[in-house]
Amino acid sequence: MSESKVAIYPGSFDPLTLGHEDIARRSLKFADRVIIAIAHHPTQSKDRLFSVDERLAMIKECFADEPRIDVAHFSGLLVDFCASRKVNIVVRGLRAVSDFEYEFQMALMNRELWPDLEMVFMTPAGEYTFLSASLIREIASLGGDVSRFVSPPVLRRLRERLGT
Ligand code: PNS
Repeated sequence: MSESKVAIYPGSFDPLTLGHEDIARRSLKFADRVIIAIAHHPTQSKDRLFSVDERLAMIKECFADEPRIDVAHFSGLLVDFCASRKVNIVVRGLRAVSDFEYEFQMALMNRELWPDLEMVFMTPAGEYTFLSASLIREIASLGGDVSRFVSPPVLRRLRERLGT
């Protein structure tokens, strides 16, 4: 029997958007299991809307229907987290050309750090290409309706946090 293929999908996910969900679910077309890995750094926590534990809980809830998607968090280098899980496939979403430069630089640097690493770039569904977590935070904090852009577990926590 062939070994199961695992991919890691890293990001800040503050919060998880429907675009992120779309990428994670699409990744199951080539991976048997996807680990959504929340990157965090203790010094950045005050700049975040949601704590790691809150992000972990809401992502778990969003994928409660999908046992092939796990959630984890890490605070060091992505390559070290990947090595600790013995996973050498990393998924990132590419929404537009503007994402490319940063992603390309990160991909090449990560490969310098761990030559065995492969980055897989996925395109979300067209209706999500303009979505970003920072826009969601901004719109929600200014009282805008983000219910079309995030799943109910995320929406509920946004409303609780922002009192909207
Ligand atoms: O969702 P984001 O914020 O664009 O995700 C960026 C992320 C978390 C994937 C990236 O910053 C990362 O991998 N951070 C972990 C620390 C690390 O490995 N840095 C070196 C990258 S070359």
